[in-house]
Amino acid sequence: MDLSTHLTGSGSAEAITFDDLRGLRQDFTRFMLRHRFGMEEVVTKLHILRDEFALMHETNPIEHVASRLKSPDSLAEKIQRKGADPTWESISAAITDIAGVRVTCSFVSDVYRICDLLSQQQDVTVKEVRDYIANPKANGYRSLHALVSVPVYLSDGPVPVGVEVQFRTIAMDFWASLEHKIHYKYRGAVPEDLQDRLRDAAESAHGLDAQMEALHAEVRSLDDQGVSGLPDDVRAELRGGDDLVPSERLLDQLRRLAGEID
Ligand code: GTP
Ligand code: MG
Repeated sequence: MDLSTHLTGSGSAEAITFDDLRGLRQDFTRFMLRHRFGMEEVVTKLHILRDEFALMHETNPIEHVASRLKSPDSLAEKIQRKGADPTWESISAAITDIAGVRVTCSFVSDVYRICDLLSQQQDVTVKEVRDYIANPKANGYRSLHALVSVPVYLSDGPVPVGVEVQFRTIAMDFWASLEHKIHYKYRGAVPEDLQDRLRDAAESAHGLDAQMEALHAEVRSLDDQGVSGLPDDVRAELRGGDDLVPSERLLDQLRRLAGEID
């Protein structure tokens, strides 16, 4: 294979030297490093949001933040698949998930809220949003994808770096990882029956998300009515009941609070 032709697209068939190879390796290392820095910037932003929520609001809208840099093999495969020009600029324009961050939230409302909070930050530019929650893929896939750009400050100045951020609920994540495994096992040719059952499972996961959201909203409105002032175990007892008849244990706790017994 003629690497120089491959790399410059010039069609010239000059011999490649060790210096060329060394230069190429250095360029590639720099290219990947930038993406790693961009990814780390976004992860830090999300950790700040997560920790601030936990401290100031006593809620935890972010369950998990994961990140990964695309492997050289997977990058090479995608460059070919997408037919990107062999320049660093066109590669980073065509392959938007070299730096990938995945945020798992408890509720669908949190998915949108965290995406908004990140997108609104001054140094974050949103290039594209793909809302596969409002518009799920044909196979049932749901997630909210944001292609963002963040500045990375290198010794010779700032460079914008693209990062693909996927926001999803725990249920969506559970489904997507199973689907990914099945897809991989069958090398893309998943039997139709299995595809149907996966689609059904995606709908069930979506139904569960809706149920959990409704429960969560109900409990929050209880909080707004002042129940939040009660101790945790009393609140848990209130939330746990099927109806509003208080249990003896709850009444005991309330009496104790009121100083009737000790
Ligand atoms: P690729 O799918 O990576 O080729 O990029 P694309 O340009 O088609 O973007 P798309 O928005 O379809 O997907 C980007 C990423 O979302 C993928 O790399 C996966 O991580 C995830 N994703 C998209 N579709 C699916 C799906 O059907 N199943 C699973 N498990 N993940 C998906
Ligand atoms: Mg795709």
